[in-house]
Amino acid sequence: MPQPAIAETVTDLRATVRAWKREGLSVGMVPTMGALHDGHMSLMKLALEKADRCVVSIFVNPTQFAPTEDLDKYPRQLAKDLACLADVGVHLAFTPPAAEMYPAGFASKVSVGGPSAGLETDFRPHFFDGVATVVTKLFLQAAPDLAVFGEKDYQQLCVVRQLCRDLDIPVEIIGAPTVRDAHGLAMSSRNAYLDEAGLAVARQLNKILRGTAAAIAKNGDADGETVRARRTLQQAGFEGVDYVAARDALTLKEWQPGREGRLLAAAWLGKTRLIDNVEIPAEA
Ligand code: PAF
Repeated sequence: MPQPAIAETVTDLRATVRAWKREGLSVGMVPTMGALHDGHMSLMKLALEKADRCVVSIFVNPTQFAPTEDLDKYPRQLAKDLACLADVGVHLAFTPPAAEMYPAGFASKVSVGGPSAGLETDFRPHFFDGVATVVTKLFLQAAPDLAVFGEKDYQQLCVVRQLCRDLDIPVEIIGAPTVRDAHGLAMSSRNAYLDEAGLAVARQLNKILRGTAAAIAKNGDADGETVRARRTLQQAGFEGVDYVAARDALTLKEWQPGREGRLLAAAWLGKTRLIDNVEIPAEA
């Protein structure tokens, strides 16, 4: 497999993308923080199906981490990540150093309302401003025609869609289904923090969410079922549950029976925070 070209500067990224566009080629982007796994690979494959060229950014974005979070510990494995890009056939890796993205004196931020309210924001108030800021920069730098984001980070996907709609950013946002292991655990770079015992508990998360979503679809009792799900997660071994919430699949406002829904959760295993979400089916 040919190795991807590598751009470390915005100037080099723009030069490559401009050359593609001069040839009439369409460009897909997959923004990542590296530590790539099968979930990311599926996003890249989708981008390559939809566009002639694919650029993947690998940048652990400091502005979406609070000082108490795992920025320093976040897995970094550039050589391995570049091998993944080569396997899939990605054309360009954008791997900027932090000073390229946030040079001395950087003083702006992008803040999105609507779907960023509640859920993650209740526990990580800094998070979506950091994501929106870096995604806006990446879109302005690379000017892709489309970008692929995983449904695993469902609220992030909704926020990025809102961002592009509100700011007239001409990038088509494509949501890709979550990739799971054989036991239903959603692929996540943070799974690397878990030992065997932790993985066994983590694998309960999706199962419990699916049972809860089916129950909500059947009886319409989102409040009762999410309270029960919280208890079940704790009994399964999750030490803390930040939220289990039934939301409208498009707006992320409270779910109403009869509407397309999404059940979202975040829970802790030791120092590892896991998130997942499932569809609330229209009928059980
Ligand atoms: O989902 C992620 O990995 C990050 O939030 C993103 C979109 C790459 C922005 O840093």
